[in-house]
Amino acid sequence: TITVDSTGRGATIDRSMYGVFFEDINRAADGGLYAELVQNRSFEYDPADNAAYTSLTSWAPTSTGGAGSVQVVDDDGRLNERNRRYLRLDLRGGNGGYGVANAGYNSGIRVENGKRYDFSVWARTDRAEGTPVTVELTDPAGQPLADALRLQVKGDRWAKYTGTIRSRATSSLGRLAVTGGGTGTLRLDMVSLFPKDTFRNRPNGMRVDLADKIAALKPGFLRFPGGCLVNTGSHYGYDAPNFERKRSYQWKDTIGPVEQRATNANFWGYNQSYGIGYYEYFQFSEDIGAMPLPVVPALVTGCGQNRATEDPALLQRHIQDTLDLIEFANGPATSTWGRKRAEMGHPAPFNLTHIGVGNEENLPDAFFSRFTQFRAAIEAKYPKITVIGNSGPDDTGATFDRLWELNRGAKVGMVDEHYYNSPQWFLQNNQRYDSYDRNGPKVFLGEYASLDNRWGNALAEAAYMTGLERNADVVKLASYAPLLANTDYVQWRPDMIWFNNQASWGSTSYETQKLFMTNVGEHVVPSKASATPGTVAPISGAIGLSTWATSASYDDVKVTAADGSTLFADDFSGNDAKWAKVAGRGSWSIVNGAYVQSDQGAENTLVTAGDSAWQNYDLNVRATKLAG
Ligand code: AHR
Repeated sequence: TITVDSTGRGATIDRSMYGVFFEDINRAADGGLYAELVQNRSFEYDPADNAAYTSLTSWAPTSTGGAGSVQVVDDDGRLNERNRRYLRLDLRGGNGGYGVANAGYNSGIRVENGKRYDFSVWARTDRAEGTPVTVELTDPAGQPLADALRLQVKGDRWAKYTGTIRSRATSSLGRLAVTGGGTGTLRLDMVSLFPKDTFRNRPNGMRVDLADKIAALKPGFLRFPGGCLVNTGSHYGYDAPNFERKRSYQWKDTIGPVEQRATNANFWGYNQSYGIGYYEYFQFSEDIGAMPLPVVPALVTGCGQNRATEDPALLQRHIQDTLDLIEFANGPATSTWGRKRAEMGHPAPFNLTHIGVGNEENLPDAFFSRFTQFRAAIEAKYPKITVIGNSGPDDTGATFDRLWELNRGAKVGMVDEHYYNSPQWFLQNNQRYDSYDRNGPKVFLGEYASLDNRWGNALAEAAYMTGLERNADVVKLASYAPLLANTDYVQWRPDMIWFNNQASWGSTSYETQKLFMTNVGEHVVPSKASATPGTVAPISGAIGLSTWATSASYDDVKVTAADGSTLFADDFSGNDAKWAKVAGRGSWSIVNGAYVQSDQGAENTLVTAGDSAWQNYDLNVRATKLAG
């Protein structure tokens, strides 16, 4: 029986309460939301980003009758200091062209019959009369999918050449071939192909079906650019050349003309182009009516790399960068950073009101001393901005408690919480926020998900969200995470929206989020239920979540539930590839009929097939056993 007090008035619910969390994980940006179809367009891929890369990843030499050689070069002839490498084609004549073909992402480049595609390239040639360049869309066998585009490159200074191609076929296996004719040295960089149709027709824009699915949620806010992606590596500093600044996400690298932006070896193990940079995030937020919510690192890098910078100059530089970021978002077009925003096409401010400082930075006291300096600087210059603190990666525990204690003591306005748990946990914890201090910091539930994409997960999340909403006076913002997953590059699951080159589809959790986001009430109507809701069939057999069990080596791990029953055990006789599945702190896998999670960082894959040497790891594991 449900009793509703129709005249009563519970918490006010903010229109912005439910939002989305975007992180470039699972190839969410390049090959995903970012509509660029060419992979490794600026030849910056490097084995240092990922051992499987070469500077010609996704490219292959091609000939239509011409002879030549191809080389990726890093020398003074570069396009600019941040975009350091380019492609050098030494053309040796023949009865046709010689060049390279790009295979895009996943199976190939997706093109649709009758649709138009914008090609562009930066090029220069040392041949006095110029070099004819042919651009073709083909299938993998070289058969044309469209009429060729012909350009004439002239002069030995970098210049941008553009043209439009109309596809005459539909294919997900397309190749983009760029060949030069005659003799001489032809240099190419930023070889790009975009669908003419992008979300809201923005140049350098977003893939329509994915952006439409996000927009259809009507999210109250957009949190970006991560996740672990933002904080890891910030201690590497600024002054190393771009190609040495691995894993250090810095917002200033992501703005301005795309050909002048750096690329980055990101936390998730692949090269990230910054084609979607801070300007695009702000613009996208505005386009979908979402409050922009950037998160910057506090230099106590979490996500398994707990290490606090001890360099005061570096800390000050990050603090100044954060102030500059706020000026980029909100400053007048006459200000230093506001001018850069205006030059990119948006003279009006983006109305930034909230900023997160720190993502899962879980050395509590080290984090807080640095956070305090960020907060003081931001509040001194921008007193109306809400500065959000963090509470680490867990829903509970000593680190969580200490971070909350520090945030509470300093009267921080809002604290970011993250947790990924079994559906059972979500059903059992509906009342989590009922007991939160009404006078303490507000909650930004920045990341949460129950651990699969099944119907029961979506239902458990929906049930949990009623608890968030009942506490809307405390929980001010909440976002499911992560948002996007490319089916060929899955690093983390579950995810809200899945896609490949030709299609995208929302998970059951997407439907839950959409239901709540598109039906945000004005206030809670008090109600009471006289019975506890039943559980959902696949989850009903789950027995108790264990607490973290610690093992000093992976020689013998046993995880026991509160009732003493064994949830997960392994004596690790010999190498056992299944442990690779348990890698990734915070990431849950189903192993031996249990949801299992370890606290190892994503980089510390425990054991992979073929590992021959015994090693010791400090390993924490917890599990929820499933029946049947
Ligand atoms: O959402 C995926 C990851 O989970 C985020 O990068 C990190 O913040 C969390 O641990």
